[in-house]
Amino acid sequence: MQNFAFYNPVKILFGKGQIANIATEIPTDAKILVIYGGGSIKTNGVYEQVKAALTGRDFLEFGGVEANPHLETLLKAVELIRAEGINFLLAVGGGSVVDGTKFIAAAVNFEGDPWDILAKQTPVKSALPFGAVLTLPATGSEMNTASVVTKWETKEKLFFSSPFVFPKFSVLDPETTYSLPMRQVSNGIVDAYTHVMEQYLTYPVNAPLQDRMAESILKTLIEEGPKTIADIHDYDARANVMWCATLALNGLIGVGVPQDWTTHMIGHELTALHGIDHAQTLAIVLPNTMTVRRDRKREKLLQYADRVWGLVDGTEEQRIDQAIAKTRDFFEAVGVRTKLSDYGVGLDVIPLISDRFEKRGFVALGEHQDVTPKVVAQILTLCA
Ligand code: NZQ
Ligand code: ZN
Repeated sequence: MQNFAFYNPVKILFGKGQIANIATEIPTDAKILVIYGGGSIKTNGVYEQVKAALTGRDFLEFGGVEANPHLETLLKAVELIRAEGINFLLAVGGGSVVDGTKFIAAAVNFEGDPWDILAKQTPVKSALPFGAVLTLPATGSEMNTASVVTKWETKEKLFFSSPFVFPKFSVLDPETTYSLPMRQVSNGIVDAYTHVMEQYLTYPVNAPLQDRMAESILKTLIEEGPKTIADIHDYDARANVMWCATLALNGLIGVGVPQDWTTHMIGHELTALHGIDHAQTLAIVLPNTMTVRRDRKREKLLQYADRVWGLVDGTEEQRIDQAIAKTRDFFEAVGVRTKLSDYGVGLDVIPLISDRFEKRGFVALGEHQDVTPKVVAQILTLCA
């Protein structure tokens, strides 16, 4: 196992009715900004619950944070915060709202152009405190330090990470997810699944606990995910998928092991350039990353085939083929299409993405630092 430091201070309030408890988590003298997305919280009862919980508290609202949040919109919130003397933020929504809130929190006291936090990876030195009420299980943003923001003007989607943007607390009430459009339920399953895969499917470092935890999350998503689609009011299935998504990317399964975020890096470009949903990009790319990297990932692919899919018959090559096919079939079965052509995108996107990777210095991705823009092009060619 590799050396690691692990720190995660996020308090999780999990279960029915937990929104009612947020006031005790926010300092009584706080001037709060409630940040939300395109309006789903106003029609599914979440806003009403938040408002009731904040009765008697000093709060303003900022709505309109887009899916794949735009820098341009988030900077408007920064201006409002400065003008109004806001000192606590509350994100209410999916990963985009939580990510957007993290950026806003970091940008308020940032000296210089806040886009540098992402474009130049300029370290963040402080951030406003914030909490989250999560309404879409997928990203793990509710319990991690990452944030992904899109600069609309240039169609660039970049990430940053800072320990200053851990949420103080996150509410996970599975009932808030009942109103999700099925496309987002499907997306959430695929995103969480891929987060596990990018921390698991590398090479063995004798970290059996991390492996077993990763495999448990994958198997739980395979078992519980379809139940959330078959019956939208299956509380237990919603709860299980929600907790899977949080644990998939709260840092725990990724400690002490190599990671490979190639699929996410390619996926972010597809979203930035073509507006394909984040999880849809992962469903397109992951099976092909597995195929192109099968030799570099051989041992873990065989372990995945056996422990997650129970594939023990046939040659090694056959088991690997089947494991990749099972992965793709699972994504399709939960409702996420896995080909670029399913989204009307052609292979002319390849040189553009390879070029962007070169310019950004993304020339040595993967657990062996040998995923070059040329390898990225190979992966994308199979995505047709
Ligand atoms: O904007 P509203 O009206 O709220 O509607 C949203 C949005 O249209 C809707 N929605 C959310 N909760 C709902 C709901 N509709 C009905 N009922 C509810 N309960 O769902 C749509 C999608 O929401 P969004 O927040 O964009 O989805 P998601 O949670 O999948 O977040 C995606 C973003 O997270 C980033 C992605 O790149 C993308 O920008 N990621 C963040 C990560 C992180 N911070 O660690 C890691 C991930 O890999 C990912 O990159
Ligand atoms: Zn993701």
